[in-house]
Amino acid sequence: MKLLEVKNLKKYFNTSSGMLHAVDNVSFTIDEGKTLGVVGESGCGKSTLGRVILHLLDNTDGNIFYKGEDITNVGKKRLKELQRDMQIIFQDPFSSLNPRMTVSQTIAEPLIIRKELNRKEIDNKVKEMMDVVGLSKRFENSYPHELDGGRRQRIGIARSLVLNPKFIVCDEPVSALDVSIQAQIINLLLDLQKNMKLTYVFITHDLSVVKYVSHNICVMYLGQVVEQSPAKELFNAPMHPYTKALLSAIPIADIKYKKNRILLKGELSSPINPKPGCRFAKRCNYAVDECHCKEPKLQEIEPNHFVACNFVKEINK
Ligand SMILES: Nc1ncnc2c1ncn2[C@@H]1O[C@H](COP(=O)(O)OP(=O)(O)O)[C@@H](O)[C@H]1O
Ligand SMILES: [Mg+2]
Repeated sequence: MKLLEVKNLKKYFNTSSGMLHAVDNVSFTIDEGKTLGVVGESGCGKSTLGRVILHLLDNTDGNIFYKGEDITNVGKKRLKELQRDMQIIFQDPFSSLNPRMTVSQTIAEPLIIRKELNRKEIDNKVKEMMDVVGLSKRFENSYPHELDGGRRQRIGIARSLVLNPKFIVCDEPVSALDVSIQAQIINLLLDLQKNMKLTYVFITHDLSVVKYVSHNICVMYLGQVVEQSPAKELFNAPMHPYTKALLSAIPIADIKYKKNRILLKGELSSPINPKPGCRFAKRCNYAVDECHCKEPKLQEIEPNHFVACNFVKEINK
């Protein structure tokens, strides 16, 4: 079943240098219980996309559907109900956790705000959540700064899950953690997904992480989706020159796609007043004159495999 759908979603920021197209015409669907990985370099619009979906930012255009309901412009009351179902896990739990609240106060807070449970029920729920995320009971009166990064992220996860949400935006949830701890947190998120039937948008700049967690993947470049496909296919047979370059740069042992490293030329610009044409053209090894004026459309090249490149057929012969 389709849980979330976004259609032609746009988020523009009015900046002193012009209109910044942070998210520009993004569309996808996610089935219940699945994970959509969203990957791309820093600044390509991943966090903005996640925040717009959750209504933490207003959208500029386009639509968001949740279980078939158009929730793009819902009123306050409905939004509050939706925010129970739709939560976020942040990259840096340290900056999102209140330093003056203990572990149990932090996890209890969303329940206290909702005023639906009594004190005893809240205490029980907090204990249950600490157990679910693997936090020992002995930390219930600790403060965030007394714990290591992995445990702090477990607090963040417990707090995000305490209202029993269905849909979670995980925004770089392991990027701030030591590599040795990343795997533990990823495995926790995968277990929780199975046990609580959660649906994830999993945002990361790290291709090896996205490969491990995703059913489908969107590759973003300067606000746009340039390639979208089932995860396995994307890693075995990437079609967009940008995806090929990203994949060529990572040391993953078990992917079939192995090519010489493709160096990305030039700098990552920012999509302020973008000109017509392919946004990747300036850095693309295959670009011809036409690419600088003709905007590529996201097309289904193979079943469920979408690519936005004017010459996708020619370069993948
Ligand atoms: N509140 C804001 N006002 C202006 N520009 C913003 C704002 N938030 C993000 N941006 C810009 O939007 C673009 C996308 O940012 P972001 O979504 O944070 O990217 P990512 O998460 O992929 O690193 C960047 O160019 C960033 O500078
Ligand atoms: Mg981000």
